[in-house]
Amino acid sequence: MSALSPSPSSSIDPTAARDLLARAREVRANAYAPYSRFHVGAALLAADGRVFTGCNVENASYGLANCAERVAIGKAVSEGAREFLAIAVTGPEEVTPCAPCGACRQVLYEFGPDMPLIMPSPGPDGYEVTSVGALLPGAFGPARLAESQGGK
Ligand code: THU
Repeated sequence: MSALSPSPSSSIDPTAARDLLARAREVRANAYAPYSRFHVGAALLAADGRVFTGCNVENASYGLANCAERVAIGKAVSEGAREFLAIAVTGPEEVTPCAPCGACRQVLYEFGPDMPLIMPSPGPDGYEVTSVGALLPGAFGPARLAESQGGK
């Protein structure tokens, strides 16, 4: 167990988890990160079986950097996918977890609050699993808006 309090890695099929992490590592090679030199890759498994990948895309105007996770979500939603089974995220290192930033947690929560989140780990499995919801307790999400629109 890491400081991120992952659930046991058995909560997702190990082969699927490793495959998704491999896709995240593969797309990380495309990261455009000349400013931070911190290369990130993400791979998002949609309910229909498609995998949408993303890498971080930085800009000379630093604040305009796009994170890998949000690039993957944007690609997926624009291609018609809205239901997701899991996401894998990797930073530059092979066995150090890279937890999504706060903005990405919020964006991921919109589409998959219970979605397993796979990250590299120094443990025996080579990966660890947590969930988007676990990383964003008390999240503001679609349910809160629906509640308000329902009346009171
Ligand atoms: N980054 C991501 O792509 N995802 C995250 O969740 C954390 C941060 C990127 C943004 C920036 O290009 C670099 O990592 C350093 O912050």
